[in-house]
Amino acid sequence: MKIISLCLFQWRGNNITEPKLLATGFESSTFGFFKKKTVKEWCEFVSFTLAKRTNESQRQSVKEKDYICHVYNRFDNLSAIVICDDEYPRRVAFSLINKVMDDFMDIYGNKFGDLEDYPFEQIVQLLNKFQDPNQADKLSKIQRTLDETTIILQDTIEKVLKRGENLEILVDRSELLSNQSKQFYRVAKKHNRCCTIC
Ligand SMILES: *[C@@H]1O[C@H](CO)[C@@H](O)[C@H](O)[C@H]1NC(C)=O
Ligand SMILES: *[C@@H]1O[C@H](CO)[C@@H](O)[C@H](O)[C@H]1NC(C)=O
Ligand SMILES: *[C@@H]1O[C@H](CO)[C@@H](O)[C@H](O)[C@H]1NC(C)=O
Repeated sequence: MKIISLCLFQWRGNNITEPKLLATGFESSTFGFFKKKTVKEWCEFVSFTLAKRTNESQRQSVKEKDYICHVYNRFDNLSAIVICDDEYPRRVAFSLINKVMDDFMDIYGNKFGDLEDYPFEQIVQLLNKFQDPNQADKLSKIQRTLDETTIILQDTIEKVLKRGENLEILVDRSELLSNQSKQFYRVAKKHNRCCTIC
């Protein structure tokens, strides 16, 4: 049971046309040295793709092979995405999402929207603490009020894309993916291992 990544975005606002990555927490210990960078970029790309296609106050859980991506776009322009394995409890993933947004707003609430960068190293510690869902329960207060029936479930990332959109083209154009990661994706796709995170 584990969380791989936790990404925080500003999903809308006065000066932005698409979601802006604010901070990433990434659990890399299970990936080999050369894979780390690619997996992290892939997590950021997937998170961005979901943040961009989620409506205000909407929660979605999207399956991607053995992983699940949980996304929430909050009214206050923050979006957070947890990518974890199948076993990690959804309720706890969504409390992590709330917690990271609340912690961020505790620091930047007054200035949010005005700055270029928002240093937020705390996201890494938060991800680490939530690796154990039992510990996580002690840290968050609201998780029991989550109404899971309002969460939209999708069984692939493609389902989240708008009609006419194509994941391959999005990969090609992404600024979050290095050429190396794009190449990795093309090879994986050719061998029918498409889109799997690792
Ligand atoms: C949030 O987004 C809305 C709509 O784009 C905008 O009017 C508002 O100023 C934004 N707030 C912040 C704090 O960026
Ligand atoms: C998001 O909102 C738009 C416009 O209101 C709507 O067409 C679309 O279906 C909504 N998306 C989801 C996933 O509910
Ligand atoms: C990545 O690939 C594009 C197009 O194939 C090329 O224009 C660009 O220079 C490459 N960037 C790097 C950093 O290699």
